[in-house]
Amino acid sequence: MMSHDEDQVRAVIWRDDALELLDQRLLPMEIRYQRLTTGVEVAEAIRNMVVRGAPAIGITAAYGVVLAARAHWAENPDHWRKSLHEDWQRLASSRPTAVNLLWALRRMEPIIAECSSNPVERLLAEARAIHEDDIAANRRMGQLGAAVLGERGAVLTHCNAGALATGGYGTALGVIRTGHAAGLIERVYADETRPWLQGARLTAWELVQDSIPVTLLADGAAAALMQQGRVRWVIVGADRIAANGDVANKIGTYGLAIAARHHGVRFMVVAPTSTVDLSIPDGTAIPIEQRAAEELLTLGGQPVAAAGTEVWNPSFDVTPAELVDALVTERGVVWWPDTAKMTGIMGEMSDAI
Ligand code: MRU
Repeated sequence: MMSHDEDQVRAVIWRDDALELLDQRLLPMEIRYQRLTTGVEVAEAIRNMVVRGAPAIGITAAYGVVLAARAHWAENPDHWRKSLHEDWQRLASSRPTAVNLLWALRRMEPIIAECSSNPVERLLAEARAIHEDDIAANRRMGQLGAAVLGERGAVLTHCNAGALATGGYGTALGVIRTGHAAGLIERVYADETRPWLQGARLTAWELVQDSIPVTLLADGAAAALMQQGRVRWVIVGADRIAANGDVANKIGTYGLAIAARHHGVRFMVVAPTSTVDLSIPDGTAIPIEQRAAEELLTLGGQPVAAAGTEVWNPSFDVTPAELVDALVTERGVVWWPDTAKMTGIMGEMSDAI
């Protein structure tokens, strides 16, 4: 039997020269992997949320480059780079907010630029490294985040920042896994996370798989949960963090941060440095994905609002850095982030981005 800090879930698998993605649209009712063999299929899978979560999207896109390069090299070794560029663009534009997507694609770029022979093996090695580095970063963040939790208690999380959203183990759920294994977390409250229900369908499922006690709540119940003193920390992931520490994450995160500050609950963001975008000075410049009206107008294919109702459906919001108590990265914990502290933790990477 696995110990409690071992996650049992893998959303992205490279197997037998193809990419297998756990179809997250079907969870928790069905566990089914899609097998993808082209870059175009991978871009569509990201766009349609077969795979989602910032680090998982980046890893998937890197494998997408491998598949695209393989096809274009086989078609015409003289023009593979030009054809690959089109797939690269398609992958880059598949979802706008999670910067890990561009970060991973940019890590593949030097190989594409330099390689004069068949690039597939080198690209695959880089995609695998991106994948493995992400899992290692999550394990490190799990230790760093758990170390600052303090007294045993319950925590609240939002969306899914678990193994499903990453290469494995998770960011926010990585801290929760390590914290639970250490006896510091007795229970996880999971927001259902309207409208896509990542909390209900994915986070609750992941935690049940790992036998970590989980209580589901409607998003609107979170402030009352804090008012009743039931949680010590809110722990969430991130899709993009600006240079000043402002955090874009799943819609609803900002409201949680405000409620947490009001009730003296501490607010932790857990994200690898691949989620930090130093080219964006603050959160106002982070591109926020707007999603289809149907996500709000229907539920399970059934209408839940009057025909003719208009919809505002941003997929992410921005939490100002001043509401973040602890930002946990694989390089260390930044308390009360600001531009100077963010530049410091990014160190030599700041020149490269
Ligand atoms: O729309 P999604 O499901 O891709 O949004 C995911 C989130 O907002 C997660 O909280 C975020 O990517 C962190 S995942 C480690």
